[in-house]
This record gives sequence, C-alpha cells and structure tokens, in this order.
Amino acid sequence: MSRRKLALRVNGRDHEVWVTPSDTVLDVLHDDLGLADVRYGCGEGVCGTCTVLLDGSPVNGCLLLAVQAEGHDITTLRGLMSSDGGMHPLQKCFLRHGAAQCGFCTPGMMLTALDLVRAGGRPSREEIRYALVGNLCRCTGYTKILDAVEEYAALDGPDDIQGGAGR
Ligand code: FES
Ligand code: FES
Repeated sequence: MSRRKLALRVNGRDHEVWVTPSDTVLDVLHDDLGLADVRYGCGEGVCGTCTVLLDGSPVNGCLLLAVQAEGHDITTLRGLMSSDGGMHPLQKCFLRHGAAQCGFCTPGMMLTALDLVRAGGRPSREEIRYALVGNLCRCTGYTKILDAVEEYAALDGPDDIQGGAGR
C-alpha cells in the first residue's frame, strides 16, 4: 500500500510521519511516535483505552484514520502535564483516590473526564458515570474513578490543558 507523508500536531509539537491510508491515529501515536499513554485495547471502538483529544474533544484513536487528523490538534495524556513534568490537577485527584490500579485505562479515562468537566457546570455522579460509559476498566470497580472525577469537578476553576510540550 502506498505511503504518504503526513503532518500531525501532537501535544503542541509538529511531527512528520509516513502513513498508509489505513493507518489509524492510534497506530501513529503509539507505534510511530512512541506515545505509550495512547493504548491499544480492543481496536474497534469499544474500550476507550485509545482515547485522545482532537481539537479538545475525545475520540477513539483506533477509529480515526491518521489522514483525517491532519490539520487538527491532538492531545494525549502527556499533553496535560506542565512543561516541567508536573501533574495535571486531574491526575492528582486520581492519585489521591487510588483511582488507577494497572493504569491501562487511565489515560483515556482522564481525557474523557476532562472533556466533561470542561464542558461546564458541575456534573453529578450519574453524569460522570454516563460520560465514562465508553471507557472500560477491568481493575478498579469504577468507584474510585468516580470519586476522583467528582473531586476534580468540584475544584475552584480546575486547570485546563497546561502542557503541550510534546513529550
Ligand atoms: S482500542 Fe480504541 S476503543 Fe478500544
Ligand atoms: S486500572 Fe486497570 S483497567 Fe483500569
């Protein structure tokens, strides 16, 4: 299959990659750019482990072709961190509540939660639960994740995306 050069902006940094027409955003971020915070789970839009933000909105990286992402801003969990590696407030809430065990689902979970909170208002526990329905976790039983997102949503002016240093 023929390959073409693609310009992608990821976590505030520009990248040039060679892709085939069938390469997904997940393929490129994980395999070509080495971003281990974007994870391959089901590969068919069910588990949410490949979630990234596309122009600020969560998408499944396994369902989006890389060529469709050209000209858009992609943010992964690393893009939430400050340039000196400081954790985003949402990460601190997850840490405080022990909301990650193996951590496989955590990046996607956080990006989806961040989008919910950024949408405004203070989501109820049920609204958080509903927003996260496409992010599966095999470990935590979800309670601690809901606690962490609730705490983050209750912060006074929770910080937005801080980083984008292209780590
Ligand atoms: S790997 Fe994309 S939704 Fe499961
Ligand atoms: S913490 Fe292991 S899958 Fe969620």
